Amino acid sequence: MRTHFDFHFLPLFLFTLLLLLGQARPDPDPLQDYCVADNKNEFFINGVPCINPEQVSPSHFVTSALSKTGNTSNTFGFSVTATNTVNLPGLNTLGLVLARVDIAANGIVPPHSHPRASEVTTCLKGLLLVGFIDTNNRVFTQNLRPGESFVFPKGLIHFLFNRDTKEPALALSGLNSQNPGSQIASLATFASKPPIPVEILKRAFQISTREVDIIRENLGG
Ligand SMILES: *[C@@H]1O[C@H](CO)[C@@H](O)[C@H](O)[C@H]1NC(C)=O
Repeated sequence: MRTHFDFHFLPLFLFTLLLLLGQARPDPDPLQDYCVADNKNEFFINGVPCINPEQVSPSHFVTSALSKTGNTSNTFGFSVTATNTVNLPGLNTLGLVLARVDIAANGIVPPHSHPRASEVTTCLKGLLLVGFIDTNNRVFTQNLRPGESFVFPKGLIHFLFNRDTKEPALALSGLNSQNPGSQIASLATFASKPPIPVEILKRAFQISTREVDIIRENLGG
């Protein structure tokens, strides 16, 4: 039997295929061994331009950015310190960062997402409750003790909570983008600049104007 293919759909099919492939791609692969970030440049490209390879030294590949405990005196009780093209210029184009996550006793890293990266987190100290929510709103949670790891799939909302009421917790996270981006759900909705219309928040969260005001005030919005 001869199958009939309608060539009218070919452009649409190819377009859809390209779109799907495009969305599945991580950061682009480097075209050379390294592309050490040239932080003096101020023009915008997809990434950061590199310095002349002749001027590259071992110091471009080392950082102590993650050596210090972060300041967790804030609303949520957490601090994230990550490597980036400024404190570790050698990671430019390599498609990864490492982040130190400090969480105060009973502190949280509130529900947030990284639009450009998956994340694997390892608990180094403390007792962490971690979890993510998939696009069907199914929740996956786990308790992590030191040495245990958990993965948050790309773009999905996730959180970390230090269950220890007395001691701070420490986690180390690897993300597969040099610029993962981070969006905290509560701040994006209630503390955006400028604020999004009250009507949107009332309807989205099924709350009153007064409740919108209270949440905004609590979050510094
Ligand atoms: C930590 O941050 C708080 C609030 O921003 C500030 O008052 C405090 O001085 C900081 N502590 C240290 C040790 O930097």
